[in-house]
Amino acid sequence: MKGIVLAGGTGTRLHPITRVVSKQLLPVYDKPMIYYPISVLMLAGVRDILIITTPQDRGQFVGLLGDGAQWGISLSYAVQPSPDGLAQAFLIGAEHIAGDSAALVLGDNIFFSHGLGGQLAAATTAIETDGGCTLFGYRVSDPERYGVAVLGHDGTLLDIEEKPAQPPSNIAITGLYFYDDQVTGFAESLQPSPRGELEITDLNRCYLKNGQARLVDLGRGAAWLDTGTQDSLLDAGQFVQVLQRRQGITIACLEEIAMLHDFITPERALELGEAMGKSGYGEYVRQAAAEYLAGNGRSA
Ligand code: DAU
Repeated sequence: MKGIVLAGGTGTRLHPITRVVSKQLLPVYDKPMIYYPISVLMLAGVRDILIITTPQDRGQFVGLLGDGAQWGISLSYAVQPSPDGLAQAFLIGAEHIAGDSAALVLGDNIFFSHGLGGQLAAATTAIETDGGCTLFGYRVSDPERYGVAVLGHDGTLLDIEEKPAQPPSNIAITGLYFYDDQVTGFAESLQPSPRGELEITDLNRCYLKNGQARLVDLGRGAAWLDTGTQDSLLDAGQFVQVLQRRQGITIACLEEIAMLHDFITPERALELGEAMGKSGYGEYVRQAAAEYLAGNGRSA
């Protein structure tokens, strides 16, 4: 399965800083925002990832993330000249996907839950064995801001409504999508919506029409955090800070995930941590690698 992180857009709600820095490079507590969605793909076992950015921000992403070899993954880059819709990621990424299945994650979506790794691995397997698409639902108090699930009595997904004035449920469709090899063809068939975008909800409806869309409930123990406004960005940073300080773990530490999934050796992780100087993040990488080498590492 190929991965795509969509990290374009104008970030106007975070102006003025996003006039010169991409929103997805802003820090969420101790690491850049894009680390979080990359960690989700790595946890799903996806190692071949395309990062889509605006033309002007591309260089900074390459400077930060490189080719991914340091984490035992492959990162490549493409640009989206203007924000013409989330589903455009599959047209821009068609060559990268090359007829495989694909997982898309929005560069500003933050997921956290104890069972996330297992849920993601199960989703990957479901696409590989049964095809179709897997979407992730999350209960929110303000569903009108998102794509919203229309559910049958037994909880099956019947339809999705994009930003409905009268939400049919409280279940938002999050910015993480797993698709089989039909995705590029479906994306090619889409027409721009009245707001001029190739809508991810229209793409999901192609699967729904064929009875091939599954909805996985992330559950009440999970966190799906928004970073769209100054307040929600600060809230997300504080959530990460509270959890990390209390537990002594780091969320979305790419070196640790790579090490625990055997993408890199613990010796390599230690080297990476040592190259990170005095930052708290670097200190954590060194500690996690040292503990692993001593035989009492944390679990994935
Ligand atoms: O976050 C989940 C929601 O994302 C879903 O529930 C909705 O169904 C989906 O339409 C989308 O809604 P948003 O209103 O949040 O989408 P927004 O236009 O804000 O874009 C989400 C991120 O993707 C944002 O960081 C900007 C980036 N983006 C957006 C567009 C339209 C791109 O990189 N390229 C684009 O063309």
